[in-house]
Amino acid sequence: MSDGLLRDLAGIVGAGYVITDAAGQEAYVVDWIKKYRGRAMAVVRPGNRDEVAAVLRCCNDAGVSVIPQGGNTGMAGGATPDDSGRQMILSLGRLNRIHEIDPVGNTITVDAGCILANIQTAAREAGRFFPLSLGAEGSCTIGGNLATNAGGIAVLRYGNMRELALGLEVVLADGRIWDGLQALRKDNTGYDLRDLFIGSEGTLGVITAAVLKLHPAPTARATAMIALSGEQAALEFLVRLGSRAGDRLTAFEFMTRNCLDLVLQHVAGTALPFKTMPPAIVLTELSDADAEADLSALLEGILSEAIAAGIATDAVIAQSGEQAKALWRLREGISEAQVRAGKTIKHDIALPIGRLGAFMRETEAAIEAAFPGLRFLVFGHLGDGNLHYNLQRAPQMNDDDFYALTGPLNRLVHDIVGRYRGSISAEHGVGQLRRDELPRYKPPVAMQLMHDLKTLFDPHSILNPGKLLQS
Ligand code: FAD
Ligand code: MLT
Ligand code: ZN
Repeated sequence: MSDGLLRDLAGIVGAGYVITDAAGQEAYVVDWIKKYRGRAMAVVRPGNRDEVAAVLRCCNDAGVSVIPQGGNTGMAGGATPDDSGRQMILSLGRLNRIHEIDPVGNTITVDAGCILANIQTAAREAGRFFPLSLGAEGSCTIGGNLATNAGGIAVLRYGNMRELALGLEVVLADGRIWDGLQALRKDNTGYDLRDLFIGSEGTLGVITAAVLKLHPAPTARATAMIALSGEQAALEFLVRLGSRAGDRLTAFEFMTRNCLDLVLQHVAGTALPFKTMPPAIVLTELSDADAEADLSALLEGILSEAIAAGIATDAVIAQSGEQAKALWRLREGISEAQVRAGKTIKHDIALPIGRLGAFMRETEAAIEAAFPGLRFLVFGHLGDGNLHYNLQRAPQMNDDDFYALTGPLNRLVHDIVGRYRGSISAEHGVGQLRRDELPRYKPPVAMQLMHDLKTLFDPHSILNPGKLLQS
């Protein structure tokens, strides 16, 4: 059966775009953090929407599962096949055309396989701004960003992927095409299919194109790194900065001392901008479309007041684009440094912002009591209430013993998140990493509705089975 299917697929996309050898598949079958490894019958690389539709039709008829994949940078194992060797990876990377920029409507229409950084560049060259920004932007695709409803460092001001998209084109499991590629700011014609596909992690359909919102280019920027005594001071500073800077506050990233220690140790060319390592650090950015706005002066004023009030202990304002980049490198190097430092048990949680301080204190005490000696790597998008609450092994532990703590640690952290009425996935998605925990934290009615939708859209369950929902 597989030979016939592979022949049919080669007939659709061309034999050179059906990869069956292990070496050719290697980059597709392992995830970015190297936690998951699967096997695939083939990696299929269609070149346009109609080829995607024909591939899905064939796989649906043959009852073969399809794992949509963009840049393979996801953090929840959502794009990795299982180890049966019977699933097909559908790589969208060849759908990489930027179709149109509309400077009046402020939109850009792109194929789903476009690399995020290329979309940012195209917008910039047109004098506009596409605000989604994250550490993987040089390799993740807009299809993957949409499928995971990605967040990143500018959500505070511009929203996550769901708020940045206007229209979508989606191929359904049976090969039908939903053309929702509209550039409308208003459309009240019933259920919102677009928002259903965004964040569905490849389980309801394959996104092939999107219309995205553009914004005015920020021509004035000020970036600062601030030393603080802890998370409570960081929250006080967030409130102070927000009330003075208003919607010019574009990023507010938090990290604890351990995170920066790790970056300094593992990421070449990084340096601490303070004399000594503070317990907590914030990286913030203000921006404005008005080139005349003196954001450095505004930031300097707010920082002086925060230092005088004992909220911040030290601060550095970038004096050039290069210095700003170096500060961002410290923040964005955290993911890379974690992978180099060894195994990590990751949590990507969202909480009401005002309760973050209490959450952190309670959770740290509970973990220290139950699993003494673990290394806390707590960082994230504090301005969105989103923390990457990560842990690494105690020095005397081996990797296997540490990984054996995954279940109990997840339970401990997520139960506290649940009590604070938070979410166990803020921006990375559920994938396979959090699939089995989801039913514990999501109301049964919501779980049932999600299963019903899955059956409606994908009756043979060929689209990314076992991700997000238990199959
Ligand atoms: P993939 O990893 O290929 O896929 C992710 C999921 O989307 C899978 O379930 C896959 O099946 C599905 N999918 C992919 N393409 C399609 C499609 N066209 N149609 C339907 N389903 C599809 N995320 C954040 O939100 N914020 C961050 O700040 C952030 N920082 C990161 C930093 C680093 C260094 C890395 C490596 C990752 C980071 N991420 C972050 C994770 C983030 O989810 C991904 O980088 C990105 O959004 C995924 O895009 P991708 O193209 O790589 O998708
Ligand atoms: C980030 O914000 O850098 C990523 O989403 C986090 C991670 O690596 O866990
Ligand atoms: Zn993040």
